[in-house]
Amino acid sequence: MATDSSNPSAPGGGLRDLTSITPPEIFRELEKGVLGQSTSLRYTSVAVYKHTTGKVPGNILLIGNSGTGKTTIMNNIQRMYHEVEEYRPFRAMTIINANLLVDADRLEFQPARLLTAVEQRARALVGEKPTAEELVATMERATVCIDEIDKMSSIVAGKPNPIGVVLQQGLLTLMEGEVVSHRAHVWVGGEEREVVLSVDTRRMMFICGGAFEGLYDQVYLRVIKPGSGEKLRSQAIQTADGQVRIESRFALSDFLKPEDLFEYGMVPQFMARFDDVVLLRDLDTAVLKEILLKSVDSPFLRSKRYFKVLGISLEMEDVAAGMIAEEAAKSTRTGARALRSVFGRIANRLEFDPWTYEGLEEVAGGGKRLLISTAMVKRAIEGRSR
Ligand SMILES: Nc1ncnc2c1ncn2[C@@H]1O[C@H](COP(=O)(O)OP(=O)(O)OP(=O)(O)O)[C@@H](O)[C@H]1O
Ligand SMILES: [Mg+2]
Repeated sequence: MATDSSNPSAPGGGLRDLTSITPPEIFRELEKGVLGQSTSLRYTSVAVYKHTTGKVPGNILLIGNSGTGKTTIMNNIQRMYHEVEEYRPFRAMTIINANLLVDADRLEFQPARLLTAVEQRARALVGEKPTAEELVATMERATVCIDEIDKMSSIVAGKPNPIGVVLQQGLLTLMEGEVVSHRAHVWVGGEEREVVLSVDTRRMMFICGGAFEGLYDQVYLRVIKPGSGEKLRSQAIQTADGQVRIESRFALSDFLKPEDLFEYGMVPQFMARFDDVVLLRDLDTAVLKEILLKSVDSPFLRSKRYFKVLGISLEMEDVAAGMIAEEAAKSTRTGARALRSVFGRIANRLEFDPWTYEGLEEVAGGGKRLLISTAMVKRAIEGRSR
């Protein structure tokens, strides 16, 4: 097992030492796909740095409303591992839903399901004929993302949820560092054999995420209760017509305490396994616009790539982008997901048949250009056909 921080994949192979890829550099990489969440990304970058330099576990819990970027953070860590060559040894990353890790009938934690998923990723990385050592080493460097962890709270709708306790307890033992036996086929002296591997889960990185619906209300009610000793912050808000008014704003991050999570149904010992609890913020219109225009996975950039295949350059008026963001911001429960549906209403017709669309222009010097105009967005939002 590698105990130093040098890159296990290529000693002296021209790759940077992992300690030299600093948290700010990791941050800049993740920021290409995750916008408006700089606080969360700072914690995430530190956790990734801790993990990839191998000295300390870097486990984090991501909490945020639906569509604010939890799964997007996980996906972007994966993207970064794939794009940055130095991270090759860490590419065995698995994203799995919490409910898949428990057998609901038998009330049993199923670490084998997790390890099997990790093993598959590790195999893809080490090649067709891995030795036991190669496979174990790669599995132990895995990043394990467990999504929808809030569904595994110990209390659901006011009732005890035993399956949640089983999951949290199972996971906490894994995160603490357990040597788990895992059956796998490996190559020994030129032939394939089934062996029992001992996998030390202490070196894995665990990222858990969930929307924790109800937590917001729970904490809000605690805070506004007379005698709570807490006070909401006031903030000056400028409205679109230029007026300013003072509003009391409740932000979960101002008030969340570990006890709130225990009350929500998270087992204290499980919570203690996380280096940080990271709160994602709700995305406002300005961030939504930025996501639409810049995030690598935005519906606009995806559509742009599609039109490029057709030899058409897709562009968008800045005000049009702002209008889409404003419309998306109205769906408060879906976060940035709403961008996709609003933009989809516009793109769908264009993608189907751009050639007969009157806005398609010939560009001097060849090629075609299609501009998403303010008028077009207005029509789509108002539901009129063109
Ligand atoms: N901060 C962000 N930056 C860039 N894109 C984002 C961000 N948040 C959300 N998105 C986009 O919105 C969509 C939904 O986001 P994501 O899947 O990360 O939500 P989530 O927080 O995991 O929500 P849920 O609790 O519903 O699973 C994604 O397709 C992603 O592209
Ligand atoms: Mg998600």
